[in-house]
Parts: sequence; structure tokens; C-alpha cells
Amino acid sequence: MTAFPSRRGRRLRMSSALRRQFAETRLDAAQFVLPVFVVPGTGVSRPISSMPGNNQMSVDIVAEVARRAQDVGVGGIMFFGIPETKDAEGTSGWDPNGPVPRALEAVAAAAPELVRWADVCLCEYTDHGHCGIVVDGIVENDATLGLLSKAAVAYANAGAQVVTPSDMMDGRVTAIRGNLDRADHQNVAICVHAVKYASSYYGPFRDAVDSSLQSGDRRSHQMNPPNRREARVEVLEDVAEGADIVMVKPAGPYQDIIRQTRDIVDVPVAAYQVSGEFAMIKAAAANGWIDGEQVMLESLTGIVRAGADVIATYFAIDAAEALQ
Ligand code: PBG
Ligand code: ZN
Repeated sequence: MTAFPSRRGRRLRMSSALRRQFAETRLDAAQFVLPVFVVPGTGVSRPISSMPGNNQMSVDIVAEVARRAQDVGVGGIMFFGIPETKDAEGTSGWDPNGPVPRALEAVAAAAPELVRWADVCLCEYTDHGHCGIVVDGIVENDATLGLLSKAAVAYANAGAQVVTPSDMMDGRVTAIRGNLDRADHQNVAICVHAVKYASSYYGPFRDAVDSSLQSGDRRSHQMNPPNRREARVEVLEDVAEGADIVMVKPAGPYQDIIRQTRDIVDVPVAAYQVSGEFAMIKAAAANGWIDGEQVMLESLTGIVRAGADVIATYFAIDAAEALQ
């Protein structure tokens, strides 16, 4: 007769070898995608103060960082551009000589093992800072779709393997897929920001891209944080439109949404650990209030445990190094 309790939860936790063997969730650097901010020029590396360790970089420096990322096993890199000029339509967003197309080409040569992701949105390229064309103070959905498609095709032409529309216009997967196919880019995948909340966690990012957003916000197109059922509708619709990957953003505060998404579709689920999530961990670690490396890994583990297959994270290189 065995003494109570016969099952002891602690048995498989007694040594690091046991804990390692019975871990239910594992992080792999191949899951990480490093977002980078590309500016014109050469030799430019300007620190982004609210995102320690991240810089606005010219193409040559991006290529160096990409090689470092590849060397430690990071899976991918995602490009955001800060253009020379902005206008009402975001024309510089599809300039083949713009920062993102040039960075795509440079990284294809310097770090060919990294999967190249290109963010598709107009807000870095419009003088008003909105994610689409603005008419009477409102972001015009349907008129924006053709412009997003132009940007997506420009990035595909430059060697993007995944385009990732972050604008939250309705119908963009259909529009972008059609335009990619007509431009002979059948094999370029779409990772749609299916579920992107109107989040205050994006604050540091707006510094990073020198956002010109002065008036208004993105609440007419990004999702309302209290809504979970609506996320199901968005995800199912985007998959029906042909999305190859669906993204949830932000990640940490929306792990319930990541889990729900994982449970209702079988395409890969990506999650974006956004600038504010990164900045909070960095700030607390800098104050000595938390162990930065451990919290970094724990935050990423939580996102994978929730169901993400891939994570866009500013920790990509540091986390890959920590896993080595
Ligand atoms: C804009 C865009 C944003 C982010 C990625 N693309 C900000 C926003 O919607 O205002 C945020 C990423 C981050 O905070 O790291 N399309
Ligand atoms: Zn945008």
C-alpha cells in the first residue's frame, strides 16, 4: 500500500535534467523574426532611445546585423522603412530604390538563410502618418487596397518571401494576393496581421519609425482590445481570403487570442511581441527590478505555449544567443 499521495508533481521537477527532458514547450531560434528599421544613407546607426539595443540603420548596417542574426540561428528578419520623403498617398512606400527594397536585396546576399519578411503599410510613408488614404478625416478602406498592393509587389520584386500587411483594412488579403499573382509572385506568402489591436503598447515603435501621426488614432481600423469573438471572425475571414499565416499583435497581453487562433485554424500562427512589451522588460531589467534574460525567455515561452509558431521580437538575437 502506497502512502498518500501516490503521485507527486515534484518528481519530474527535481533536477535540471528532468525539467529539461519534460519541458512541454521549447524555444527554437528558427521561430524568431527580428524587426529592423531601415533609413537612407550609409554607415548610419541611430539608437532608438525607447528601444535599447535597436537602431535606425542604413542598408549596409542592416546587412551586418542580418549576418549576426543568421550566425546565431535566428529564423527571419522583418523590414520597416523610414523614407526620404512622405506624401499623402505614401508613394515612397513602393519606390524600388526605397530603404526596404534595397535592404531586402542586401540581406538576400549577406544572410541568405534568413527568411525575409516585409511589413506592408502606408503609415511610415504618408505625411499625415495614417495607414491609408485619408478622406474627410477617415482612412478610406477600398482606395487604400491598391496602394498596399503596390508596396507588396515592390517588396516581392526585391526578394521578400513573406509580405505582412499591418494596416487592418478590410479585403487586403484578396487584393494583395491578386496583385502578387498577376506580377508572377505566386510563391510569395502573405502573413496577414489578422488580429491587430489598437494598442498603447506600440508607443516606442512610433519613435522608431519617426511617425508623423499628429491627429487621430488607429481605432477606426485596428481592433478594440476588449473584443475576443471579433478576433475569430477576422482570422477565419483572412484564412478564407487565402492568408498563408495569421498574426496576432501584441503578443503577451493577448495570449488568450493566440490560443484561440491556434485552436480554430491550421495555418501557422505568428505573434508580434511589440515595442512596448520589449521596452517594459528592458526598463525593469535596467533598474535591476527583474532578471532581464530570464524574463525575456519566459515571455517568449509564454507566447509559444499560447500557440504561436513564429514570434516577431526585438529580442531575436539576444534570445537566440541565450539559447545557444
Ligand atoms: C503600423 C505598425 C505599428 C506596429 C507595426 N506596424 C504601429 C501602429 O499600428 O501604430 C507596431 C510594432 C511595435 O510596436 O513593435 N502599421
Ligand atoms: Zn500602418
